[in-house]
Amino acid sequence: MNTPKILAIGKATQDVFLKSDEFSPQMEGKVAYTHLPLGVKMEVEDIVFATGGNASNVAVTLARQGLHSSYMWTLGYDPASETVLRDLDSEGVDTSHVVRRDKYRAGYSNILIATDGERTILNNKGVSTDAHDVDIDLDAIADVDWVYPTSLALGGIDLLRIIVDRADEAGVKVMLNPAGPELAEPNKLKSLLSSVEVLCVNKEEMQMLVDGESLEELVRHALHYVPVAIVSDGPRGVIASDGKTIVTAGMYEDVPVVDRTGAGDAFASGFLSQWAAGKSLRDSVIFASANSTSVVTQFGAKAGILRSNADLHDMPIEEKPF
Ligand SMILES: Nc1ncnc2c1ncn2[C@@H]1O[C@H](COP(=O)(O)OP(=O)(O)OP(=O)(O)O)[C@@H](O)[C@H]1O
Ligand SMILES: [Mg+2]
Repeated sequence: MNTPKILAIGKATQDVFLKSDEFSPQMEGKVAYTHLPLGVKMEVEDIVFATGGNASNVAVTLARQGLHSSYMWTLGYDPASETVLRDLDSEGVDTSHVVRRDKYRAGYSNILIATDGERTILNNKGVSTDAHDVDIDLDAIADVDWVYPTSLALGGIDLLRIIVDRADEAGVKVMLNPAGPELAEPNKLKSLLSSVEVLCVNKEEMQMLVDGESLEELVRHALHYVPVAIVSDGPRGVIASDGKTIVTAGMYEDVPVVDRTGAGDAFASGFLSQWAAGKSLRDSVIFASANSTSVVTQFGAKAGILRSNADLHDMPIEEKPF
């Protein structure tokens, strides 16, 4: 099999994590949680710079796993856009389809980490394309094997529909792990599932799309719409089916969670990095679990992403006929 080509589409951000002993829940009135005291200077002991945005995280998993990974979105010439592009370039992600214009800006977040690990996020959403005046090169979709659209900002579900339709026309497979803007309209999301090959969502999200209480019920119902369905439930595990077998997995490893940003991205992209390359459902779930577990042990959504030489270990996992 040739190396699969996968295109991730969606917004990117720069995240700056600020840790301070003064961001303490023990402080009187929990000031660090609810208000920053006006007019004071607070010391920040530790700063971690990271880039995020679901699609950009996905592109890095795919590149680190040796696939032909490309990233497409609208970015500007602001420092956050520059940082995102530098990060993706250094990971070997193809960014040649990124559209850069003065009017666009990447997202930017300051994330204040309190001493107990709780966080306060100061977020600027940035400026990017929308669905009325689509400013990305949709023809690029026809050149890849898989497209992974997520977190399309103002484009939302309408831009998702445009991307999915283009993929359908071109016979390109779609992996869907929707984020906030696409989940805002579950009925519209459901109406485009007939063009989706792999749907990967968490339990609450799947319950917005199909009926069911248990993960198994949910995955069985989802298979009425898509060929491959995966439902994750945080540290409680995950269930996946391709209509032939059902794989049920528990926790990969009980790790200390430093920052759970990017867990869902690492899981879904970790799955695709194996599945697109022809690995079994079971092996794809094991790698996805290992990748997401590694990501939550570090600040930022990318630092913990596994490389192709990573050693995997066994995990609680069962496979049965569908
Ligand atoms: N506390 C944890 N410890 C170990 N692994 C975890 C933990 N939380 C999540 N994971 C891993 O990440 C995967 C995806 O997590 P989850 O089901 O919470 O997805 P999600 O809600 O879509 O996440 P996100 O908010 O990032 O979109 C899980 O299946 C698991 O492998
Ligand atoms: Mg998610």
